[in-house]
Amino acid sequence: MRSHSLPKAELHIHIEGSLEPEMLVALAQRNGIALPYESVDAVRAAYQFEHLQSFLDIYYAGAQVLQTEQDFYDLTWAYLQKCAAQQVRHTEIFFDPQTHCDRGIPFELVHSGITQALHDAKTELGVSSGLILCFLRHLSAEAAMATLEQALPYRDSIIAVGLDSSELGHPPSKFEAVFDRARAEGWLTVAHAGEEGPPDYIWEAIRLLKVSRIDHGVRCVEDPALVEYLVEHQIPLTVCPLSNVKLCVFDDMAQHNLKQLMDLGLCVTVNSDDPAYFGGYLAENFAAVESALGLTPEQLVQLAQNSFKASFLSPAEQQLYLQELSVD
Ligand code: ADE
Ligand code: ZN
Repeated sequence: MRSHSLPKAELHIHIEGSLEPEMLVALAQRNGIALPYESVDAVRAAYQFEHLQSFLDIYYAGAQVLQTEQDFYDLTWAYLQKCAAQQVRHTEIFFDPQTHCDRGIPFELVHSGITQALHDAKTELGVSSGLILCFLRHLSAEAAMATLEQALPYRDSIIAVGLDSSELGHPPSKFEAVFDRARAEGWLTVAHAGEEGPPDYIWEAIRLLKVSRIDHGVRCVEDPALVEYLVEHQIPLTVCPLSNVKLCVFDDMAQHNLKQLMDLGLCVTVNSDDPAYFGGYLAENFAAVESALGLTPEQLVQLAQNSFKASFLSPAEQQLYLQELSVD
């Protein structure tokens, strides 16, 4: 079965990272915002990154074109249509409210645009979803707590909180109190850790933030005791292959450690992270690791199975999707 036709779930996608250059230019025009680019091609040409921060600078600048509820709806809907076309049956998407609220866009507008698209995708495209609120770790823990409080009225439409943005220098421990509060309010937790940061950040995410999954986590291999713990507890890693190459975490796809992680017995999933910036959606990520690492059809099916097992769907819902995988 080709990766395009495998039923699968996506567990690591920043909705702001699905803003394609065409939509960026169209929304800038619609909202009367001047861009520092002459054309769609010039936007695309600017997407050359040396590390996470060089990407984040461009990504946060791009997000400024998102102004109205319709903009957030259109952004999310375009991504969900991609999901439907690539047999992504379920997706758990991150959004970064601080990126928008800090420039005067109301939380409720952002939330409403995104959740309306998620609702329509379920009924019109048959794509189910969950929403994960991410705190920006380069900002303060107090700012994260204020964002958490802003989100309380929307508690039932958000399944988990996460932690993203500049990793180095901003360890998970900085947000321990915020994550304690999030869990007390009934949310699950995830965190980016071990993308650029050391294995200690993964330990902190597990021990202090009590995460259900590690986002990225590829640097876990530097600490054998950590690998052993992740394997024993089957804590999933949401690995993002094209992202890792674009952000120079690995020199090229052939160097990526995804297959090594699978061979070690870790629960690995494949994800797109910021598909508009990194050259592909979920199917392209599957195809890239399949050809560069020589994954077998069985390993591709394993990755698809892991994507449902590592999701926040109920066991009964997971079973429905897993059955679809086993009959094909
Ligand atoms: N925000 C969007 N993409 C990210 C990534 N890969 N790492 C950290 N923060 C992000
Ligand atoms: Zn990410």
